[in-house]
Amino acid sequence: MKISARSKKMIQPAIVKYNGLIREIEKTGKKVYFLNLGQPDIATPPAFMEAVRQIDDDVLMYVDPKGIIPLRQSIVGYFKNYDLDYDIDEILVTMGGSEAIWYTFLTLCDEGDEIICPDPVYSIYREVAKATGVKLVPVETYAEEGFELPAKEVIEKCITDKTRAFILNTPGNPTGRVYTKREMDDISQLALQYDLFIISDEVYRDFIYDGEEFLSFAAREDVAEKVILVESASKRFSACGARVGFLATKNKEVYEGLLKMAQTRLSISYVDQVGAVELFKLEQDYLRAQLDEYENRRDTICEELRKIDGVVLETPKGAFHLLVKLPIDDAEDFIQFMLNDFTLDGETVLVTPGADFYFNEELSKNMVRISYVLKQEDLKRAAFLLRKGLEAYKSK
Ligand SMILES: Cc1ncc(COP(=O)(O)O)c(C=O)c1O
Repeated sequence: MKISARSKKMIQPAIVKYNGLIREIEKTGKKVYFLNLGQPDIATPPAFMEAVRQIDDDVLMYVDPKGIIPLRQSIVGYFKNYDLDYDIDEILVTMGGSEAIWYTFLTLCDEGDEIICPDPVYSIYREVAKATGVKLVPVETYAEEGFELPAKEVIEKCITDKTRAFILNTPGNPTGRVYTKREMDDISQLALQYDLFIISDEVYRDFIYDGEEFLSFAAREDVAEKVILVESASKRFSACGARVGFLATKNKEVYEGLLKMAQTRLSISYVDQVGAVELFKLEQDYLRAQLDEYENRRDTICEELRKIDGVVLETPKGAFHLLVKLPIDDAEDFIQFMLNDFTLDGETVLVTPGADFYFNEELSKNMVRISYVLKQEDLKRAAFLLRKGLEAYKSK
């Protein structure tokens, strides 16, 4: 018996990679601070569960594969806060942003087609690309330059007759980069010139710091027919377990293609959608309070990390992840050490190796991604453990 070559090529994403080991370690009573996952510790707004408790249907039925109408209406309303104008028939509700990424790759590309992405990139794109036979073509960006996209001419060199799209994530996971007008103009011009799609993953739209303005590809008229938005309730409403995301596009042909993919799974959870209706209706005050909280967390983690000798980082402008250079040669080995060998008063900290996000192995060797999803006192403690861990690792 034989299983597919594509599944053999895939690797475990960071989110599950250490699960087995963590369970073993936690059995010993050791406490682990998780800075490796984008799983916020903030309570999900009670409106979600209140709406779910109101459900009194006798039968939980399949619902519209596009997503229930009240949810799509609620999303349209949320978009209006950002001056984004979508109709309910331009929204397709998915099982998290993750499913949205699958459908987009499957709809835009045949096997062997190419999508251009920045390096480093959100790791799930790489695994979905392997599974769907799409080739991701990386454009190198550098920590020292705040992960800015290179000049248009450099990106243009990556375009071949197989290129179908760009995939960008702003604000970015793992970099925290928020793309500027210059970068978005360049991508839009190339998309128009070479007739390419722009997959814009904006699941962190609501996390932009320092009062910076957020620019969405979806707000641009020049590429209106080319943009496919990947969206999610997970981060903005601290509702990762609700598994509600969505796609938005003004391109009817693309929408029909995405819908055919979605019809193969018939429907997504009705219960989760009922809860999510209330999330997307939340007042802007809720999102503003979250933003303040994350901005404080960002400042705290950056300040604490800068106290560690040899650590190099740029203050991220958005999302809740940052890539940090550690004064070590092998981030994976250091992480194993932190889990298996290091403990201070029964505690340790877990971060994600940069290699999970990089195509260029050389650039990733001493990099780790830190997700500042914990409250400030936990972040301080975790940074302290990281410092002590580095000292212990170096004197090993
Ligand atoms: C950039 C980015 N896109 C999409 C997702 C998918 O999230 P979900 O499937 O929980 O909606 C994530 C999750 O971490 C992410 O970081």
